Amino acid sequence: MKIDILLGLQWGDEGKGKIVDAISPQYDVVARFQGGPNAGHSLEFNGKKHILHLIPSGIFHPDKINIIGNGVVIDPAVFKKETENLGIPPDELVKRLVISSRANLILPGHRILDAAYENTRGDSKIGSTLKGIGPAYTDKIARNGLRAGEIFSTDFRELYNQRFRNHMSILKNHDFSFDPEEYEADWFEGVEIMKKFRIVNTEYFINDLVLKGRKILAEGAQGTMLDIDFGTYPFVTSSSTVSAGACTGLGISPGHVGEVFGIFKAYCTRVGSGPFPTELTDDTGNTLRNKGNEFGSTTGRPRRCGWLDIPALKYAIMINGVTRLFMTKSDVMSGFDNVRVCTSYMWENRECEEIPFDSRKIQPVYTVLPGWKEEIREMRNFGDLPVNLKGYIEFIEYHTGVPVTMVSVGPDRRETIFRNQ
Ligand code: GDP
Ligand code: IMO
Ligand code: MG
Repeated sequence: MKIDILLGLQWGDEGKGKIVDAISPQYDVVARFQGGPNAGHSLEFNGKKHILHLIPSGIFHPDKINIIGNGVVIDPAVFKKETENLGIPPDELVKRLVISSRANLILPGHRILDAAYENTRGDSKIGSTLKGIGPAYTDKIARNGLRAGEIFSTDFRELYNQRFRNHMSILKNHDFSFDPEEYEADWFEGVEIMKKFRIVNTEYFINDLVLKGRKILAEGAQGTMLDIDFGTYPFVTSSSTVSAGACTGLGISPGHVGEVFGIFKAYCTRVGSGPFPTELTDDTGNTLRNKGNEFGSTTGRPRRCGWLDIPALKYAIMINGVTRLFMTKSDVMSGFDNVRVCTSYMWENRECEEIPFDSRKIQPVYTVLPGWKEEIREMRNFGDLPVNLKGYIEFIEYHTGVPVTMVSVGPDRRETIFRNQ
C-alpha cells in the first residue's frame, strides 16, 4: 500500500485542513510530517469551524489514527491548549493520536529567540508567526534539540535547564525584555499532558501500517514557496514543506509514496514578507481579501492577495511530483468581469518562465480570461460549474499538464466537488 501526500503549492493557507478533513474517510491514518504551531489548518462541519496547529486534520474522524511525525516541532504549551479545545474527550483523543519520540520540542527560549531575531532584522523582517519555529529547527540541526521521547527521562528538568541557559546566554546580546517564567508554567503543564499520549518510534509504526495495507495520508503544512530550499529564501519557514519532506518527516521511503495531491487557491495569498509577483495592492486585492476572508488562521494578520501565478505553480508541481491538483476557493473568484493569470515573468528585460534565483525583481506577464458571476457554493457537480470557471480550470490543466480532480467551493466539508476522470 502506498502513502499519499497532500501539500500546499503556494505560500500556505491553500485549504489543506479543509481538504484533509474532507478526504479522511478514504484513509486509515493521517500524519503530519513537518512544521509546527506556525500552521493554522481550518476545517468546518456541522456549522462549526476548528483551527488546528499541531494536530493532524483527520482528528475529528473517530476511527482514524493521527500521527505527529518526527519532522514536526512540538510546543507542549500549544499542544495542551489545542487538545483541550478540540471538544474530543481525553480518553478518546489518546486513542486517535500518536506522537513521534523523535519530534523536536519548541522550548520557551525558542519563542523568545524568534522575536529577538526578528527585532534585529530591521526592514527585512520575515514576518514570522513568532511560534519559535526557526530557533527550534536551528537547534535540531545544530544537535542541541530536546525531543519528545526525552520527556520521560528522570533528568528531563536538567536537560531543559541546559538548553535554557544556552538560550539566555544568546539573548544577553539582544536588547529584549521577557519573563521566562510566564512561558514555563504552561510549557511544563503541556509536557505532562503529552505524557498521556503514545509517544513511540512512529517510523516503525507507519511502516508497519503500510505493510498491513492501511491507507495513509501525509499532511503538509505551509507551502512549497515557503520551503527552506525552494521557497523565496530568506522569506520562508525552516522546514522541508515539499514531498521529499514527507519521507524524512515520517521515516518512509520514496518508493512508498503514491499520489501527490497539490493543493492551490484559485488565486494567490501570502502572509508575512517576501516576494509576491502577482500581488494586488488595489481594490481587486481588497475584494479577494474580504470575500475570501483572507486573514491568518494563526496570527489573524491580513493576507496579501494576488492573481494565480502559473510559473510558480509549475515549479511547485515539478519539485513535488504532483499527480493531481486540488483547487480551492473557486467561489471567491465569482463576480469579476475578467480574471488574470500570470503565465510568464519579465526579468532583466526578457520574458521567462523560470523563477530566477532572486525573485524580487520579476514582473508578471498576464493572460486575461473571461470571469464568471454565478455564486457556486451550492453546486456539487463539476458539470454544473460556470462555463468560464471550467475554462479557467482547463487553462490551468493545459499549462501545468496535471488534472484538477477536486474543486472546493466553500469552507465546509460538504462544499467539495470531486471530479471523476
Ligand atoms: P490551510 O493552512 O492550508 O489549512 O488553510 P487555512 O485554513 O489557513 O486557510 C484557508 C481558509 O479558507 C480557511 O478559513 C478555510 O475555512 C477557508 N476555505 C477553504 N477552502 C475554501 C473554499 O473553497 N472556499 C472558501 N470560501 N473558503 C475556503
Ligand atoms: P499553514 O500550514 C501561511 C509564513 C509566515 C512567515 C514565514 C516564516 O497554515 O499553511 P515561521 O513562523 O515559520 O518562522 O514564518 O512563513 N508561514 C505561513 N504562512 N501559512 C502557514 O502555515 C505558515 N507558516 C508560516 O507568515 O512569512
Ligand atoms: Mg493556514
